[in-house]
Amino acid sequence: MAVPLLDLNAQNLALEGEFKAAFERVLRSGQFIMGPESVAFEKEIAQFIGVKHALGVSSGTDAILLALMALGIKAGDEVICPTFTFFATAGCVARTGATPVFVDSLEDSFNVDPADVARKITSKTKAIIPVHLFGQVAEMDPILEVAKEKGIPVIEDAAQSLGATYKGKQAGTMGDFGTFSFFPSKNLGGFGDSGLLITNDDALAERATLLRTHGSKPKYYHKFVGANFRMDPLQCAMLRVKLPHYNSYTKRRQKNAAYYTEKLSGIKGLVLPKAAPDRGHIWNQYTLRLQNGKRDALKDHLAAKKIGTEIYYPVPMHQQECFEYVGAKNAPFPVANQLAQEVLSIPIFPELKREQLDEVVAGIREFFA
Ligand SMILES: Cc1ncc(COP(=O)(O)O)c(C=O)c1O
Repeated sequence: MAVPLLDLNAQNLALEGEFKAAFERVLRSGQFIMGPESVAFEKEIAQFIGVKHALGVSSGTDAILLALMALGIKAGDEVICPTFTFFATAGCVARTGATPVFVDSLEDSFNVDPADVARKITSKTKAIIPVHLFGQVAEMDPILEVAKEKGIPVIEDAAQSLGATYKGKQAGTMGDFGTFSFFPSKNLGGFGDSGLLITNDDALAERATLLRTHGSKPKYYHKFVGANFRMDPLQCAMLRVKLPHYNSYTKRRQKNAAYYTEKLSGIKGLVLPKAAPDRGHIWNQYTLRLQNGKRDALKDHLAAKKIGTEIYYPVPMHQQECFEYVGAKNAPFPVANQLAQEVLSIPIFPELKREQLDEVVAGIREFFA
């Protein structure tokens, strides 16, 4: 039985009638930029997260860029971010003209190492961006503490972690800004690109709102140089259909993760992902670590059985060609370098059937037999 890494139709087709009604509503409204669907979505998702301001934006990437722009990050500044993550975080820093300063990860959670964050702070550090990778919030307390002490803003890249919690607090609500992605493979997956920027700070929210539409207020009078970072009302309408189901999707991901953990524990050379006890993990990915150079062989073994897997992420940011100018290529990032060689994500989406989970477990157990 084939087990894809992700099956979007399994989730979306169950709500086909509601999506068609949402599309029809937008079609008939004749309003395709902002308007009532956007207002309603922003209100509903702000309520869901428990945050004062939520701005629908064009992508998770643009949410990060908009946050950096609203904080006034510019050439000559340094912004601290993880090296073991998706490109967008560091890419946005570079696009403001600032320099990304890379930080190593923790082995257990794949998230930034707070001690390395503290070590990398200089007088030029103007923001810190912890990424909540694979559905689990980073170790926030020590990061927030050092940021507060030095007066440095924090942007939480929660693209993969909508609804995840840290000591009872929602991902994205602990820093100055939180950013999310509705890329189709995210836990709240849209029908194309879109994202979200959140904050509890009124002044930052106002600035980000202006920057989202070319920095103008009123129309055609430009206070700042912004851009078009708006989320389409059609995406808003479609995601309003999915949002009420989000907690049930998360519960199913958590159940799948618990099943894998039960059935795959005890295999020598296979490290399973863990949820820290003080965190609500939403399992955007279930990421194995394969020791002794076996990762690629397991990937091939599972591919032969039509089981989808992916390597998130094969090349850390400090080794990317485009960041050679940062000069960190040969700097010591022992954990990130090791993770890039060892990680393999297996199917975890909510609609996986018990037989599919068993197929994945059997495939992995057979490899180690
Ligand atoms: C950690 C992280 N940050 C940022 C992004 C960017 O989001 P988007 O693809 O919506 O631009 C993603 C997802 O792709 C991500 O995983």
